[in-house]
Amino acid sequence: MTEDAKLFTIDDYEEAAKRVLPKMAYDYFRSGADEERTLKANRKAFRNYEIWYRVLVDVTERDTSTSVLGIPLRAPIIVAPTAYQKLAHPEGEVAAALGAAEAGTIFTLSTLATSTIEEVAAASAGPKWFQLYVHKDRGLTKSLLDRAEAAGYVGIVLTVDAPMLGRRLRDERNAFALPEGLSMVNLAEMADDVSRAEAGSALSSYAASRHDPSLSWSDIDWIRSNSTLPLLVKGIVRADDAGRASDAGVDGVVISNHGGRQVDGAPATIDALPAAVDAVGGRCDVLMDGGVRWGSDVFKAIGLGAKAVLVGRPVVWGLAIDGAAGVSAVLDLLREELANVMALAGCPNLAAIDRDVVRRTG
Ligand code: GLV
Repeated sequence: MTEDAKLFTIDDYEEAAKRVLPKMAYDYFRSGADEERTLKANRKAFRNYEIWYRVLVDVTERDTSTSVLGIPLRAPIIVAPTAYQKLAHPEGEVAAALGAAEAGTIFTLSTLATSTIEEVAAASAGPKWFQLYVHKDRGLTKSLLDRAEAAGYVGIVLTVDAPMLGRRLRDERNAFALPEGLSMVNLAEMADDVSRAEAGSALSSYAASRHDPSLSWSDIDWIRSNSTLPLLVKGIVRADDAGRASDAGVDGVVISNHGGRQVDGAPATIDALPAAVDAVGGRCDVLMDGGVRWGSDVFKAIGLGAKAVLVGRPVVWGLAIDGAAGVSAVLDLLREELANVMALAGCPNLAAIDRDVVRRTG
């Protein structure tokens, strides 16, 4: 029996990944900011919603398929950007992209990847988005946009919640840095920064010195004028910000608090989702991430108006255990769980999952 065959839930994958990963790497991936209240709240808040299932509906076929920004997906579950995937597995982002393609979904490559934009594109023909951190060096930022477009990526995911990083205490205590031989290969001239800090988290020092803290609404236009790719804005929790992003003409809004890694005390994303969906009013797709660990969580997000969810840590756990196969196994597990809940809830397709089926407790 392979290791994967003994893993029945995403939490099983995390437990197994914890056993194989060095402590510094596991802590980096699992951490939230400060007291990790928002990290925990993201998961816990899903319990505030109930599934008011319908009965006597023909659910012989359970169709989990959808499309996001014109890209067909086997299920509404997309791979979120996460940094440094070679910390999880030697094949890193290449394996994760292959696993995503195998599972019929989009892979999002982080600006802080340990594999190049081009090598991931060469290895995987599946649909890929590029996550962008805007750097003070706009020439460098523009070159990342150009490279993603030239390499055939089909969307830009602009992260807007990280003018600098939240405090991840585990990383500070571990003096987190990339091990010898790994670097942020897409940021050539700064590639060594994360191995160089003397104390605390080297990534946090990197972001504080390189990310552009002046990033503001006018920069949405700057990005649109420097890339023809569809643009998603990720890291919004407020309805007014979601409305403003759709006013600015973006193609998608991702309701996200960066997996609880930035503002500790930020609301759980599933709680933020409904008002954001209302504010966007159908002008663009609304996606969400944060705390998705079960197919029923995906079901609830769809019921509250998300077009799809993104998953970050679960993908890293699958990657750590079994490379590309582990990533596709995690994505398949979530899809199968979703299909099961759809059957039990009388929803043969995603359109049938509405706000009447998913209601807040109490
Ligand atoms: C990077 O984006 C991180 O949150 O560590």
